[in-house]
Amino acid sequence: MKKQLITMLLVAPLSVLAQPRKEITLSDNWSFSHDKKKWQTVSVPHDWAIAGPFDKKWDLQKVAIEQNGETEATEKSGRSGALPWIGVGHYRRTINIPRKWMHAELLFDGAMAEPTVYLNGEKVGYWAYGYNSFKIDITPYMKAGENLLEVDLQNLEESSRWYPGAGIYRPVKLILTGNSIIDPWKTFIRTTDISRGKAQLDITVGGNDIDEQNSFDIELTDAQGRVVAQQKGVGLTYRGEKNLRLTVQDPKLWTPETPYLYQARIRLYQQGDLVDEVSQKFGIRTVLCSREGGFQLNGVTRKLKGVCLHHDLGPLGAAINKSALIRQIKMMKAMGCDAIRTSHNMPSQMQMDICDSLGMMVMAESFDMWKYPKCKNGYARFFDEWAEKDLTNLIVVNRNHPCIVMWSIGNEIPEQGSAEGRLISIRLQGLCNNLDPTRPVTQGMDHAEKSLDGGFAQVMNVPGFNYRVHKYQQNIERLPQGFLLGSETASTVSSRGVYKFPVEVTDNSLYASWSPNYIPGAIDKADGQCSSYDVEYCSWSNLPDDDWVWQDDKSWVIGEFVWTGYDYLGEPTPYDEYWPSRSSYFGICDLAGLPKDRYYLYRSHWNTQQHTIHLLPHWSFDKERRGKVTPVYCYTDYPTAELFVNGKSQGKISKNPNSRLDRYRLRWNDVKYQPGELKVVVYDAQGNKAGEKTICTAGKPAALQLDTWTQHDAPKLKADGDDMAFVTVSLTDAKGILIPDAGDQLKFEVSGAGSFEAVCNGDATSLEPFKQPTMKLFNGQLVVIVRAAKTPGIATLKVTDKKRNISKILQISVE
Ligand code: GAL
Repeated sequence: MKKQLITMLLVAPLSVLAQPRKEITLSDNWSFSHDKKKWQTVSVPHDWAIAGPFDKKWDLQKVAIEQNGETEATEKSGRSGALPWIGVGHYRRTINIPRKWMHAELLFDGAMAEPTVYLNGEKVGYWAYGYNSFKIDITPYMKAGENLLEVDLQNLEESSRWYPGAGIYRPVKLILTGNSIIDPWKTFIRTTDISRGKAQLDITVGGNDIDEQNSFDIELTDAQGRVVAQQKGVGLTYRGEKNLRLTVQDPKLWTPETPYLYQARIRLYQQGDLVDEVSQKFGIRTVLCSREGGFQLNGVTRKLKGVCLHHDLGPLGAAINKSALIRQIKMMKAMGCDAIRTSHNMPSQMQMDICDSLGMMVMAESFDMWKYPKCKNGYARFFDEWAEKDLTNLIVVNRNHPCIVMWSIGNEIPEQGSAEGRLISIRLQGLCNNLDPTRPVTQGMDHAEKSLDGGFAQVMNVPGFNYRVHKYQQNIERLPQGFLLGSETASTVSSRGVYKFPVEVTDNSLYASWSPNYIPGAIDKADGQCSSYDVEYCSWSNLPDDDWVWQDDKSWVIGEFVWTGYDYLGEPTPYDEYWPSRSSYFGICDLAGLPKDRYYLYRSHWNTQQHTIHLLPHWSFDKERRGKVTPVYCYTDYPTAELFVNGKSQGKISKNPNSRLDRYRLRWNDVKYQPGELKVVVYDAQGNKAGEKTICTAGKPAALQLDTWTQHDAPKLKADGDDMAFVTVSLTDAKGILIPDAGDQLKFEVSGAGSFEAVCNGDATSLEPFKQPTMKLFNGQLVVIVRAAKTPGIATLKVTDKKRNISKILQISVE
């Protein structure tokens, strides 16, 4: 065997043997410091602020939130997460560059914020925006062997409307090559036509330090590695680029349901020698928005069933992690969601790779403001100098991802009424269209009239409107495009497992500052929670049901992006003035990633492949509720159902298309609570019994139940130091029924081939730090995150409830 290998090596031509490029992810051995005196060893991605502690002082502000319609400044806390992200941070580590490499680049996928990069003491680069990818050519500054890399960051106060995270929170790569290289940012593979059983691909290849002396081979392979198209010895122009066209027969098209990926391998030659080689995944698919067809993927009209996502990963902060991102996307897909909007900034590469391979469409956004500041030190400081550079990087970095179906140049830009705003839209959209003629460009507008009066909305490829569905009709009448997008919808608020009585549909939670019945001081009585009956929203927003009427009834509404798929750190509306609220209530899932009731409402409407039968509230109230009116809702795709309390029928009801809350939900509003059994029987459109669901009153707390999620769909992890298990801990009675109000303090110990990473209970008012191995249950549940070690073995998690003297052990195989 060994002999065979040696023979092979000897006969192989030199050009094949040479390793033309090397990419190294710089994850370990970074030192981090706030003051350059005390250093700590960290791994990147890293978020220096997520460990806390939570404190009102970190982001206490006296502001009027104009976007919420406020005119007077009042004290706000928790607006950006009440975590210590403001200030400076320094990172450094050595990088080794062997002499044989002629050229080196550093690729940052995002660093919060204003990263200044030094190599061997010399400044080599800077990027203003913390959300963008950028690269730095360090060739002129590098030396063979050890080089000192340093990154300085600064986060100014009042620079964000939410928790931005802090630090090098996305991967950094070192790319070592020869002098002549293919540049993936100049290489673009796009589907220009799919017809008569074949796909036409227009491909641009570009690079650095290459010209007509160079040539390349390009090979397209399918998921099995079979070559589906190729061209050899393609010459470059004197500018070092080339446009070519390849045809793929019987292409397998990329859709969210069939996320089929191909790969392009490009080999660059100089006088016959291989000098560089890159591989690029891509999908074959087309996107079109038109008056006739609305939003079309591969020529098929579909409505975007989307959610907006902030970039933070709850208890992991902004520090990106593959397993956490997969968990987010899979959970949304299971709900029937097929698109995300990366509100309000550039996505990470890791997230886009995941959306490509799992099948999730993406609206990739860029800015939350242009010139006019939404917060004192926000992006407005940079807009004039940086906007075009930022948009350019967003597009050239991401345009090969099939998942991205549109670009967004902004969210609720204050300039939307002005003539200048219209010109900026034209300029930014033009830049996007030039760099990528295959995807339409949108932005989310919140002032319908102003944006239509000034011609701002009319110039967009896709006019996107945030909320205010009652204006959709008047908007469409003024739009030459003939369609519109619900670029941001709902903003319904709820807390997992919290049910407030009486159930009241309201757009002003009693204790919110803008509420007409707000009494100064009354806020002290608030508990910082919103009801999970899914009937509370904001003065500018609405309920899921209100959006669906438009989505379902009007062909010219091309889809929606719900605010938001998950709760996020910061923006604790409607409790902006209530301490200790520090994270949002908008999520369909809570900050720990656990589904709220609303998850099943969306699932019942969006997931057309699986049936949903979900009952709320829980049926384990205390004595005081007995005999009191406790409405019961069923979220189901079935049209009719009968409800029983301890066997007694509460009536058989059907959905009613003419009623705001009964078109998509089945509601029994007069049920009186009695402990025991709550059962629903559902019927299909033909009146046949189709299923049932029963929930029971819990007995005494007796056990801890641990449910493990990993990306491998089994209780095992990869021994790569990065993989994570998300363990949902529930306190139950002896029969496994959740104790829905339990708030027990739990303790976590992880030993063996893993470590405790973080814990979160989804309570927006909890001040317990995520990175300490103890936390209270919130309404009976929380999620513990275990990180895999780099060496295989068994990771053991022990969860202890001291008060009840119970504990539970979970073993995870790390392989
Ligand atoms: C929108 C805004 C979002 C978020 C949301 C809350 O107006 O675009 O970023 O603030 O309101 O409802």
